Amino acid sequence: MSEEKLPEPHSPAGALDPFADPGLPAHEPRVTDIDEKAARRAERQVSLLFVISMLATIGFIASYVSIDKYKIIDIFFFGKIGALNLALGCTLGVALFCIGAGAIHWARTLMTDEEIVQERHEFKSDPADREGAIREFQRGAAESGFGRRSMIRRTMIGAMALVPLSGVVLLRDLGPLPSVALRHTWWGKNGKNGRTLIINENTNKPLRPEHIVKGSLVMAKPEGLNVDNHDYLEEIGKAAILLIRLEPDEIKSKKQLEWSYNGVVAYSKICTHVGCPIGLYEQQTHHLLCPCHQSTFDLADDGAVVFGPAARSLPQLKITVNEKTGFLEAIGDFAEPVGPSFWERG
Ligand code: FES
Repeated sequence: MSEEKLPEPHSPAGALDPFADPGLPAHEPRVTDIDEKAARRAERQVSLLFVISMLATIGFIASYVSIDKYKIIDIFFFGKIGALNLALGCTLGVALFCIGAGAIHWARTLMTDEEIVQERHEFKSDPADREGAIREFQRGAAESGFGRRSMIRRTMIGAMALVPLSGVVLLRDLGPLPSVALRHTWWGKNGKNGRTLIINENTNKPLRPEHIVKGSLVMAKPEGLNVDNHDYLEEIGKAAILLIRLEPDEIKSKKQLEWSYNGVVAYSKICTHVGCPIGLYEQQTHHLLCPCHQSTFDLADDGAVVFGPAARSLPQLKITVNEKTGFLEAIGDFAEPVGPSFWERG
């Protein structure tokens, strides 16, 4: 098979290329290049876009603060949609769009549109070329009007400075500090000295002391906290308790005895290590074991940690019985934060 001869790669231009280089067309000035009024009008339009962007960012922050995150609205064609998501999406979209549109409009109407030909050269330019490039850059910057058109400059800087605020505001969704959030639970909703009926988490019925039999473990929650509450998971994650029955003489601490009712004690179900739900009860030892990292709490000794990585005792909930109804009730909230206690570590 004969080899076909390829053209010389470095043949003089024109010898192998049948198309002549037409060169650049003559530069056509735009209306804003020759009419100062049109240029001013374009400048105002660009600034207006940046101002709209600023207003949209402010609207984003206002929506985030003022609209209920659970509010649903019905919009024709789109159907049911979260009002907060809609408002955040629209305002942030407008803010970003107007910055982009303003920059494009500015470039198309006011910045120079003259074609500049740059000949190819070696990667490293000689000093004269570099000086020339710097001069060209400075000339381009001057022609863009960035220094001269102060209204555009200020509004653009304002718009670009405000847009990142949208991201900063969203940090609020990380929630309050754990030491604050975990200090208050549903049990305290009835006021400091109020009482809350204790409800069996499985049957949804109030509990009497005789329902807690020795050796068993009953999971419970406060009255009013139901699965249809919009913040149910968040609240049950803090308020869930376990009820067990001990013999009153098995209880080692005076405070624990005072906070119990005829041997029935209530403890937070949330492990004080990193917050797993606890549920393994050793009837003979009264030890409660967390399945995550095996922290073990002694319920006969004020919920003290007897093994594992948990740093503090399981919080106890003070309970009593309503003399009229005979149902178990909690007195106030936990006296200390429930759940993980990493903020207390040295
Ligand atoms: S979460 Fe309970 S031991 Fe780690």
